[in-house]
Amino acid sequence: MKIPANRLDRAYEKHKEEYETKALHVLRSGNYILGSEVAAFESEFSAYLDAKYCISLANGSDALWVALHLLNIGPSDEVIVQGNAFFATVLAITRCGARPVFAEPDLTHYNLNASNIAACITSHTKAVLVTHLYGLMTPMHEIVNLCRTHGLRLIEDCAQAHDAKFQGQAAGTFGDVGCFSFYPTKNLGAFGDGGALVTNDPRLAENAYCFRNYGKENNCGDYIIQGVNSRLDELQAALLRIRLQYLKEDTAEKNHIAKRYYAGLRNEWIDLPKVYLGTENVWHQFVIRCNRRQDLIAYLLENGIETAIHYPIPPHLTSALRNLRIKRGALPITEQLAETVLSLPSFYGLREDEQDFIIRTLNQFS
Ligand SMILES: Cc1ncc(COP(=O)(O)O)c(C=O)c1O
Repeated sequence: MKIPANRLDRAYEKHKEEYETKALHVLRSGNYILGSEVAAFESEFSAYLDAKYCISLANGSDALWVALHLLNIGPSDEVIVQGNAFFATVLAITRCGARPVFAEPDLTHYNLNASNIAACITSHTKAVLVTHLYGLMTPMHEIVNLCRTHGLRLIEDCAQAHDAKFQGQAAGTFGDVGCFSFYPTKNLGAFGDGGALVTNDPRLAENAYCFRNYGKENNCGDYIIQGVNSRLDELQAALLRIRLQYLKEDTAEKNHIAKRYYAGLRNEWIDLPKVYLGTENVWHQFVIRCNRRQDLIAYLLENGIETAIHYPIPPHLTSALRNLRIKRGALPITEQLAETVLSLPSFYGLREDEQDFIIRTLNQFS
């Protein structure tokens, strides 16, 4: 049996006719940018999350950068971010000219906790950027309180956490802004690039609508700020509206896959992530830890099973960020995670017989 790390064609096949009919409809409509599909997607997605505003953008990286920029984060500011964040998350901070300060994540849950954030607060700290990495929801109550106490902005990177919740509240609605990517592999994935930010702040929303379209104010036609071009197109918005209708069902499928891994995996070399009380997780990736990762990867490949590593090099050790002068060993938990994490196949459409084979094979690893 051959099982790739991911297969997007299975999700496509499931609702193929709907996607193709809709795509043709948009192509024939003559409206391709900032039309009714974008407006409808924005209102449906904000309603889904119970957020007031959704502003769609060209991609998730822009969502993070626009959020920080519109919150006036810039040079001489520090933004606390988890050491094991995806590189793009950190780029949003440096793109504003601000300095990323890396907090250690929790080893068993991979995400931030309030005490690790508190340890990084200085007089320059302006914001905390939390990622719900792998679709595992970060317990938010203490983090929200900490930010309030210190007057810090709170931004959530929900690129991997569409539909995740903490105590019934959606990821993306705890802080000032929630940022989403609709990159095709995401739980709510487009058929190209896409992103959005959500907020309850009317002024920030107003600025974001304007900023993404060169800074143009729609009513008077004037350019009131120096904006950029960062827009979700009509085709992606139309297809995302279909994907959004199935998100509940898709999340249930991801949970079913995760449940079966928990029930089936038994191997002393493999550690499974800890699930926190009150979190509803969406398992964008199912990430195990193994101290003999290279051996495990080779063994699985011999058996036809592909895996992936998210992510092998933590941002502070990348060549691009060597100017931060953070040495290896500075973030031991982050570095341990980078050396041990392994993402198992957990894509939409993964068949039970395939997953049983993965579980059996993993359990026989010695
Ligand atoms: C956690 C996280 N943040 C940010 C991004 C950036 O999103 P995009 O690729 O849409 O720019 C991604 C996705 O690739 C991601 O997984």
